[in-house]
Order: sequence, then structure tokens, then C-alpha cells
Amino acid sequence: MTQQLIYALPKAELHLHIEGTLEPELMFKLAQRNKIKIPFASPEEIKKAYDFHNLQSFLDIYYQGANVLQNSEDFFDLTWEYLRRVHQDNVKHVEIFFDPQTHTARGIPFETVITGIKQALDKAQREYKMSSYLILCFLRHLSEEEAFATLNQALPFKHWIKAVGLDSSEIGHPPQKFERVFKQAMQEGFLSVAHAGEEAPADYIWQALELLKVQRIDHGVQCINDDKLIDYLKDKQIPLTVCPLSNIKLKVFHSMQEHTLKKLLDKGLCITINSDDPAYFGGYINQNFQTAAENLHLTKAELITLAKNSFKASFLPEHEKTQHIEKINNLTLST
Ligand code: HPA
Ligand code: ZN
Repeated sequence: MTQQLIYALPKAELHLHIEGTLEPELMFKLAQRNKIKIPFASPEEIKKAYDFHNLQSFLDIYYQGANVLQNSEDFFDLTWEYLRRVHQDNVKHVEIFFDPQTHTARGIPFETVITGIKQALDKAQREYKMSSYLILCFLRHLSEEEAFATLNQALPFKHWIKAVGLDSSEIGHPPQKFERVFKQAMQEGFLSVAHAGEEAPADYIWQALELLKVQRIDHGVQCINDDKLIDYLKDKQIPLTVCPLSNIKLKVFHSMQEHTLKKLLDKGLCITINSDDPAYFGGYINQNFQTAAENLHLTKAELITLAKNSFKASFLPEHEKTQHIEKINNLTLST
């Protein structure tokens, strides 16, 4: 029952790193195609290495995996595989993160990365009527200066990029470090989001809101310890893009039963469910819905709210949000 409802609900995915959709099979294929050495003899060996104990232990493997991405065609294949996969999950709109610095640091031009991704997004619009926006993420373990350089590289492709974001190693790299870069990005017309309160305390969420002036918080689950922040997120309806399977794999919570997303939903926050890095964390968006639903006993009404929130929290124009939400209303009337 639940599985059918989850499938039937049209959804938007708002927290998805395209580099995190690199499945072991594609990693292996691209390593061979591009003659890149990887320390694994088969896709099965790659899968066995995915044993993480925190965010950093994941990031080390994730950046290493991205080395096989060399040409525009590779970025196209990567993105198309993801879009094809989530079309099967009834995803109608995606807002995709990409990490240009992971690639430019290896000598891959910004243009190579973005043109490959964009061609796949255009194909999904044509073939699936799936809409999309791109979000450029700065790697927070790198310097402010490097973030500024990346922002400048992005300017010729401004019309393809909706927002900027902030990801990578959180603790020790607070949002404050990027206040000036985000200000400049805003002046260039970009919207903004930031990973905050994934592993680091609630103060990082306050900084993202007050200094970076973000429209959404990615993860944000550490808000649970700050009542004032919870009230603020509720009053302003600032969305949290929550990623249940990611949080369990990276041991933010010990088990899915301990995940706080239902508590936050009950408190009236605008919570969405997303997959983060599905090739590494064991499931795409519907699997995240399913595992959360089973372990937290989410009701049908809560699943509907989560799907509606995904559009409400998106950067789509209001009339498109309304159209998607109307479709959910019509669907629930007929089931
Ligand atoms: N957190 C921070 N950086 C990331 C993540 C994440 O969950 N996934 C990919 N880069
Ligand atoms: Zn993320």
C-alpha cells in the first residue's frame, strides 16, 4: 500500500549531488573507457568499500570516485542515468547540485562539466517533461578565494544555474567563511542554499540563514536541539531538505527509528525527503520515502504532505508549484 502511494505521488528532488549518483558499474565502465586507474578490480569490490563512519570517511571515497569523470560525455552519461532512474520513481522536477571544484582541481574545464550535465537535463525535459534547475556548490573545505574563482568561472553559464550552495566537510568550515562569496552570488542574481546542521551544531544553521541569507537549509537536522531555531524555521517556513538514508549511513542517527524527521514534521516545519548521494547511501528518492515511512510509521497524510512540500520548497515559479500540488490533490481524491 505504502509503496504504491509513494510511487503514485509526483515528487521533486531538491537535495541531490550529481557526483553522488555515480553507480559502481558506471564508475568501473568510465575507468576503463578513460584509462583511469582505480584501486578496485570489479564493481562488487567498489561496493564493498562503501563502509562509512562519518561524513569525512564518505567524502574521501566520493572525491576519489569522481576521478573517472573526464569528458562531457561522462557527465552526460552520469546525469542521464540519474534522470532515467528517478523518472521511474515518478520524479517530475529536480534541483541538482554539482561540485565544479572537484573537477576543475583535476584540470577538467568548468565548461566540460556543465555542458555534459545540461545536455542530459534538456533531454529529460524533452523526453520525460521533467523540469530541472542546477545548483553550483562551493566546497567548504577549500578557501574563500577558490570559491570566488569558481563563481567567476560560472558567470558565462549564469543562465543555466539557478542557485549556489555549500557542501563538503562541515565541521570547522562554518557558513561565515563564505559570507562575501554568497553576497556576490546574490548580486549576480543567484538564489542560495547551504548544507548546515548535518554534523555541525545548530549555530551553523543560524549562520546560513543570517549571513548567507539562504532560501533553504540542506539537512538541518541538528536544529532539534534549539527551540528558538525550530520556531524560526516554522514561522518562516524555511524548508529543510532531509536525506534519511544518508543520515543513517553517515551515522548522524544510529538507526532510522531514531531519525527526527517525523518530529520536525509534527512541529510544523517544511520537511522534504531526498536521496543526497543515492549511489553511495543505498537508495533513490522512493527508497528514502519507503524506509522512513516503515520505520517512523508515517501516515498516508504525512507522505502526501512530504510530496507537496517538495514542490512548495522548490525554486519553481508559483504557478508551476500550484499545478504540481493540484495534481497531488486530484490523485488523493481518486485513491
Ligand atoms: N554533506 C556534505 N557534502 C556532501 C554531501 C553531504 O551529505 N554529499 C556530497 N557532498
Ligand atoms: Zn548533500
